[in-house]
Amino acid sequence: MRNSKFKDFKMIRKLIFAVFAFILPFIMNAQEVVTSPDGNLSLKFELQANGVPAYQLNYKNKSVIKPSVLGLDTKDVTSFKKDFTVVKTERSSADSKWTPVWGEQKSIRNHYNELAVTLEQKAEKGRSIVIRFRLFNDGLGFRYEFPKQQELRRFIIKEELTEFNLTGDHKAFCLPGDYDTNEFPVTTCKLSQVKDSVKTAIASKGGEALIPSLTVQTPLMLKSADGLYINIHEASLVDYSSMSLNLNDKTYSLSAHLTPDALGNKGYMQTPCTSPWRTVIVSDDARDILASKTILNLNEPCKLETTDWIKPVKYMGVWWEYFIGGKSTWAYSDDNNVKIGLTDFDKAECNGHHAANTANVKKYIDFASANGFDAVLVEGWNHGWEDWGGFIKEKVFSFTKAYPDFDVKELHRYAASKGIKIIMHHETSSSAADYERQLDDAFQFMVDNGYSAVKTGYVGPVIPRGEYHYGQWMDNHYIRVVEKAAKYKIMVNSHEAVRPTGLCRTYPNWLAQESARGTEFEAMGGNNPDHTCILPFTRLMGGPMDYTPGIFQGRLDYYKGYKPDQRVHTTLVKQLALYVTMYSPLQMAADLPENYARFMDAFQFIKDVAVDWDESYIQEAEPGDYITIARKAKGKNEWFVGAITDENPRTAIIPFNYLPAGKKFIATIYEDGKTASWDKNPQSYNIRKIVITNKTVLKQKLASSGGAAISIKEATKADIKNMK
Ligand code: NOJ
Ligand code: CA
Repeated sequence: MRNSKFKDFKMIRKLIFAVFAFILPFIMNAQEVVTSPDGNLSLKFELQANGVPAYQLNYKNKSVIKPSVLGLDTKDVTSFKKDFTVVKTERSSADSKWTPVWGEQKSIRNHYNELAVTLEQKAEKGRSIVIRFRLFNDGLGFRYEFPKQQELRRFIIKEELTEFNLTGDHKAFCLPGDYDTNEFPVTTCKLSQVKDSVKTAIASKGGEALIPSLTVQTPLMLKSADGLYINIHEASLVDYSSMSLNLNDKTYSLSAHLTPDALGNKGYMQTPCTSPWRTVIVSDDARDILASKTILNLNEPCKLETTDWIKPVKYMGVWWEYFIGGKSTWAYSDDNNVKIGLTDFDKAECNGHHAANTANVKKYIDFASANGFDAVLVEGWNHGWEDWGGFIKEKVFSFTKAYPDFDVKELHRYAASKGIKIIMHHETSSSAADYERQLDDAFQFMVDNGYSAVKTGYVGPVIPRGEYHYGQWMDNHYIRVVEKAAKYKIMVNSHEAVRPTGLCRTYPNWLAQESARGTEFEAMGGNNPDHTCILPFTRLMGGPMDYTPGIFQGRLDYYKGYKPDQRVHTTLVKQLALYVTMYSPLQMAADLPENYARFMDAFQFIKDVAVDWDESYIQEAEPGDYITIARKAKGKNEWFVGAITDENPRTAIIPFNYLPAGKKFIATIYEDGKTASWDKNPQSYNIRKIVITNKTVLKQKLASSGGAAISIKEATKADIKNMK
């Protein structure tokens, strides 16, 4: 009896072992699932064979990202790519609100479920990393975290191995990979066609540091055949290289491609440290992509002690006149062999067409002031423009030395008397090291002379030589500039910098960036009619763009050697609508005062439109085709609507259901004229007023590459009477 009991016990023990042996690989494989708060998105983490970490993402039970590996290849130390075991998983959730200093809405909800997986490499004496996933209702963010530990102090990244394996040959809105420029026209094609299609973009702009393998830049916008909109980018790019994506155009697999430095290394890390967040925003409604705040939510809260000095800005500038050909120059003299610090200009050397002269700047100040603007940008005010040294000399610009015809003190006095701030310009010719040496003096000079905002620029190859605009060193440089600017209470608008990743939440004095093909290209080959129907889905996902809209009069009217591609590729009214559809707290009216003077009734919209908002309503959107957005001005009962279309005319359906119920409003509609089109009749427009309520739905015709811009105010009794 005793014996048989013992036998039974042995059998049971064997059975337990057998079952355990069978399920052990599954336990080891440690599948973990986390869903978004609304349950629509679901993320699965698992360890594949050999302890390789991987994830996959589903949206409403459709696959968005197929199983894709995670990890990093490193130099000198063992890579973080296999032989991992899961030692801990932690779950948490958050649902809070925060108030941006400026933005598309006055309050932002940060709502997610989180999974943090701690992975250990036993053979590396228990070295560990954490992969943290956050699932929002509209997307996924995940990053690598490297805790401080005895076995891991510092390491060099050879490559990040993160994959994004897509489910098919999606339509892509993309830029060719380039470590130095993102000013290409956007290519729209299937993933399988990218290799050939981007050739046109490269031919039209020319690469600066084209990545030789097949890569695309982020934010990458995709649309699947089954109607999913997918956006891949990154958030909080700090002390790390910017990510492009390798594309396998047969398997539709993407993988991280970090920007190297002069030595070919892709990142220098010291624990504790993290990668930026990798973001995948997903929806079956394109409007959700534009409404997403996930990238901002993944950035650190504001780090600045005070923010009361940060104000959204509407500005004009001594700027477009440099682009229309033959009118004026940034440089004071025509001497193109100038050594900064040694050369002092005398009046006789003036070339006679230097635009940043006191009298001309005063004209801009007068016009800007008379029309309620905040500021005037002046480019070409300082020593250095004559001789960029073929991009080989390190000292090109002085940021404290004005040309003799630009009277700093007098212009400060004059501008202040008219309620205008002058915006400083620092073109660095990408000599970033020299810029950093001058930075304290430059910012002190600004403070002493009443400047509170600077436009920085990084044209040409970077010095330190061999560094790239999007590498770790430069990524840190842009942040150093913004942090130092904050100490002097200066706002920053950086051109040619790495595309933004939501850092304006952490540094709200970083008002805007260019970092994409801006309006300047309307004078240099043109922007396609669909360009601004794409940018909000790509470049603007990371933050506001200084797109500089408002061009009523293209270059072709001035330029002697007229070429058709030097016209603006929109109607005049579409230029107005861009103030609403291209969100930025920094908006320029980029055309010349004399051009606005010819169209004062249309210019009224630019004068009226707000640059900071309580609420935004994405009403219609399809990447590459059209966008309609309504916004409520910050702290005011005023609303503005912008509707734009690509080359195809369309009828926008514009409801006003966000307006308070039971009241009447006057909508002033700026619309394309009946015969308007961007290429044949761009300046034809009509302005009409109608009475609306929150029940009105407007059917508004938009011309080819046209638009509509609407301003809305509560109607007074007198208004209603006048309308009859
Ligand atoms: C390129 C900038 O995008 C443009 O706005 C500026 O005028 C020129 N560089 C000169 O700095
Ligand atoms: Ca530029």
